[in-house]
Amino acid sequence: MAVASRLDTGRAFARVLLPTLAKGVIVRRPAVTALGEKVRADAAAVATMRRFRARYGPEPLRLRVTGRSTALLLDPVDVARLLADSPSPFALATREKTAAPAHFQPHGVLISTGEERARRRAVNDDVLRPDRIDVRGIVADEADLLLRHVRSTGGLAWDAFAQAWWRAARRIVLGSSAREDVELTDMLKALRGNANWAYLHPRRNALRERFEQRLQAHLVRREPGSLASLRPPDELLGQAPHWLFAFDAAGIVTMRALAMGGEGEAGIWESARLWPTTPVILRESTELTRWHGTWLPAGTTFVVFVPYFHRDPDRLPYADSYAPDNWPAPNDPGLVPFSGGPGICPGRDLVLVAGSTMLDALRDHLDVPTLRAPLPVTLNHFGLSYFTRK
Ligand code: HEM
Repeated sequence: MAVASRLDTGRAFARVLLPTLAKGVIVRRPAVTALGEKVRADAAAVATMRRFRARYGPEPLRLRVTGRSTALLLDPVDVARLLADSPSPFALATREKTAAPAHFQPHGVLISTGEERARRRAVNDDVLRPDRIDVRGIVADEADLLLRHVRSTGGLAWDAFAQAWWRAARRIVLGSSAREDVELTDMLKALRGNANWAYLHPRRNALRERFEQRLQAHLVRREPGSLASLRPPDELLGQAPHWLFAFDAAGIVTMRALAMGGEGEAGIWESARLWPTTPVILRESTELTRWHGTWLPAGTTFVVFVPYFHRDPDRLPYADSYAPDNWPAPNDPGLVPFSGGPGICPGRDLVLVAGSTMLDALRDHLDVPTLRAPLPVTLNHFGLSYFTRK
C-alpha cells in the first residue's frame, strides 16, 4: 500500500484538507469563501490530488499522521465500495463528525450508531420524500413572491434569495406558521457556527436549549402539509435540526445552478457535482479491512475528497463543463454529490424537487450571464447576483 512521503502528507493537509475545513464544512464563512475563489484554492487541491494519483497509483494513500491511521482514496471504485459498505464496516459516525454536529443536533442520524442509527435513518427515509407533502407548491409560492421583489428592485442578489429560500424551508419542514420565524434559523446558524470549531468551542447549552424549545413548539403543532405532520414530534426533534441546516446547501446549489444556466433536476445535480457542498466524505473502519492486497487497521479514517472525483479531467471528459446527461444515473462511481450506498443523503429527492422548482421559476425572469466552460472550480455563491430580464 502506498504511504505518502512526509512532504506529500504535508501537502495533503495544507492544500486539500485544511483549506476545505477553513471554508467551514458546516456553515460557509463568507470572507474565507471569497478568498478561496481569489486564490483558486479548490483548483490547487484537485491538482494536488491528481499528482498523488500519478505518483502513488490508484490504491488508498496512507498519510503519515502520528497515532492515527488515515487513508486518502484515489480511485472511484474504492469510493463506491467505501460507501456501499457503510455503516459497517465503514461507520459514518467518525470522530470528526461526532465532534462537529453535536453542537446543533446531538441526536442526528449522521452521528448515531447501531440500532439507534437504523431507527433514525428509517424515520428520515420515511419523512423526507417530496411526494408526501406539496413541496413544489410551497416553493412555487415563495418563488412568486421573490419574483415580485426581483421586478421591483431590478435584480436578485444572494440575501434576497436566501430569505425566500429559508421561508420555503421552514414551511416545508414545520409549516406556514414557521414561515416568518427567522430567529429559529438564526439560532441554528449560531449553533452551527460553533460547530465549525468543533474541537475548540465549549458547547453553548443555553442557546441549544432555547433552540430546541422553539423547534419543539413548531413540531407539536404537526401542521398539515409540512414534514412535521408526518411523525410524532419526539421522533423528529433530533432530526429536524439537520433538515433545516441542510436546506442551506440546497439553496446554495440552486443559486449556482442559475449561474451556469442549469435547468430542472439535472441542473441541480450538475451544480452539486461541479461545486459539491459536502466536499469531504469521511468513514471510519470498525474492523481490519483489505485494500488492494494490504490490510488497514480498525479505526482507520478514510477520506473522500469529492471535488477531485467530480473534476478530474484525466477521467472525465466533461469535468469542467455543464453535463446534465450525467443524471440521474451517472456512469462513473466517483460522482457522489449526495454520497452513496446506505448513507446516501435521504433528502436528495426533496432537494431536487425544491431546487428545480425554484430554479425553473426564476430562470426565465433573470438575465443570467451564463458561465461558460471551463467552469471555475470554486464559485462563491455569496457574490452571485443577476439583473431582471429586459
Ligand atoms: C444540496 C443539498 C444537499 C446535499 C448536496 C446533501 C448531501 C449529503 C451528503 C453527501 C450526505 C452524506 C454524508 C456521508 O456520506 O457521510 C448527506 C447526508 C444527509 N442528508 Fe443531505 N444533502 C443536501 C440536503 C439535504 C436536505 C435538504 C436534507 C433534509 C431535509 C438532508 C438530509 C440529510 C440527512 C438526514 C443525512 C444523514 C444521512 C445518514 O447519516 O444516513 N440533506 N447529505
